[in-house]
Amino acid sequence: MLKCEGETFKVSIKDEQEMIEFGSKIGSCLEKKDILLLEGELGSGKTTFVRGITKDAFSPSFTLLNKYNFKDTQIYHLDFYRLEKPDYDLFMELEEVEDAIVIVEWPKFDLPIFEKSNILKFVVFEDHREVIICGEKAREFYQSYTKK
Ligand SMILES: Nc1ncnc2c1ncn2[C@@H]1O[C@H](COP(=O)(O)OP(=O)(O)O)[C@@H](O)[C@H]1O
Ligand SMILES: [Mg+2]
Repeated sequence: MLKCEGETFKVSIKDEQEMIEFGSKIGSCLEKKDILLLEGELGSGKTTFVRGITKDAFSPSFTLLNKYNFKDTQIYHLDFYRLEKPDYDLFMELEEVEDAIVIVEWPKFDLPIFEKSNILKFVVFEDHREVIICGEKAREFYQSYTKK
């Protein structure tokens, strides 16, 4: 479990469509060098959220890394779920990412670049999902989704 520091916010998401809208709003706040770590059990909505950001993301569970063009930069979308041991070539590539956005599902390895990341925890309830947001941009993310 990653530690949330500073202010924490929580949003309630009723269905898949709302999760995509949530991703889209967060996407409008993203800029180069932002790092998002997505926690939560399988099927909690992490990849759906990323689809809201990139419009066409598919799960990187098997490919490990998908890259998308996004605004004037790129999004590196990763999923460490199936990664059993550290992949140092991959981690090195991530450390060298300078002008892109990095989004990681199952961030079970602790990389130096994760130090100044934003963490989103996806929690499943019977009839909805909740996402707990923390990190430097948490307030901005929260406001971009909740303001009408
Ligand atoms: N409120 C919700 N938000 C997101 N996904 C939901 C929600 N309710 C049901 N779902 C379903 O849950 C699944 C989430 O899958 P996915 O985004 O791939 O999860 P993860 O990447 O966390 O494993 C999808 O099949 C989606 O249709
Ligand atoms: Mg996923």
